[in-house]
Amino acid sequence: MEIIIVDTEAQASHLGAKIVAQQLMKKPDSVLGLATGSTPLALYNQLIGLYTQKQIDFSRTTSFNLDEYVGLAPSHPSSYNSYMWKNFFNHINIRPHRIHLPDGLAPDIAEHCRQYEGAIKAAGGIDLQVLGIGADGHIGFNEPTSSLASRTRIKTLTLQTRHDNAPNFDLNEQVPHHVITMGVGTILESRICLMLAFGTSKAQAIRDMVEGPISSSVPASALQMHPHTIVIVDETAASALSRRDYYRWVYDNKPKWQQYE
Ligand code: GLP
Repeated sequence: MEIIIVDTEAQASHLGAKIVAQQLMKKPDSVLGLATGSTPLALYNQLIGLYTQKQIDFSRTTSFNLDEYVGLAPSHPSSYNSYMWKNFFNHINIRPHRIHLPDGLAPDIAEHCRQYEGAIKAAGGIDLQVLGIGADGHIGFNEPTSSLASRTRIKTLTLQTRHDNAPNFDLNEQVPHHVITMGVGTILESRICLMLAFGTSKAQAIRDMVEGPISSSVPASALQMHPHTIVIVDETAASALSRRDYYRWVYDNKPKWQQYE
């Protein structure tokens, strides 16, 4: 894992956008894996800015989102489908037929998940997967004790995750109990994983993911097995890492050809 510690969320999002932009410039028909939540919002804004300035083009890009709530129609304001259109897709030139999100209303969820996996494969696999992390170490909606070999499937949310995500729902509305999520095994097949994390609420999860043992108790720790994971954190999210100085030193001394900017 490459751990990059920057001062602020804005700097992290700027660097993250640069890495995604480089991927699109290198391979305009890239397959992007996309995440939701508050973490990637500034990254998406930066990418929209780069698109508006005509520095990047999404016309040949394919996307697959990590997860979706079961029982919510795509048009539901709290669905991840709505989130993606509102915060990203409506502002770039990605072609709608190349956008993929799990369908929270799929009548046969197991079959839908199989098809989702098949569509990722048919697209050539995910080139770059954007990730956030839950305070309990989840990636996508792979809650603690998820199999590290898991594929796209239905999962039950923990109380903590339902509580954490409640602000995205109306006061009188329940956060769904069930979700469809790419599996940890699915995520690990992405060629590059790009994780962002901000704030003290993520510090322990980041420490467990980077420096803890690989364990299904912290599904994100499976990324230790991934050959190309980039983790960009702000100072607060990095605050529990014991090897902070080493990660800084490595990043500051990267050879020029390996640098992102
Ligand atoms: C959510 C999403 C994840 C996200 C994580 C963190 O439950 N399913 O994909 O990375 O939790 O959310 P946030 O970025 O809002 O902290």
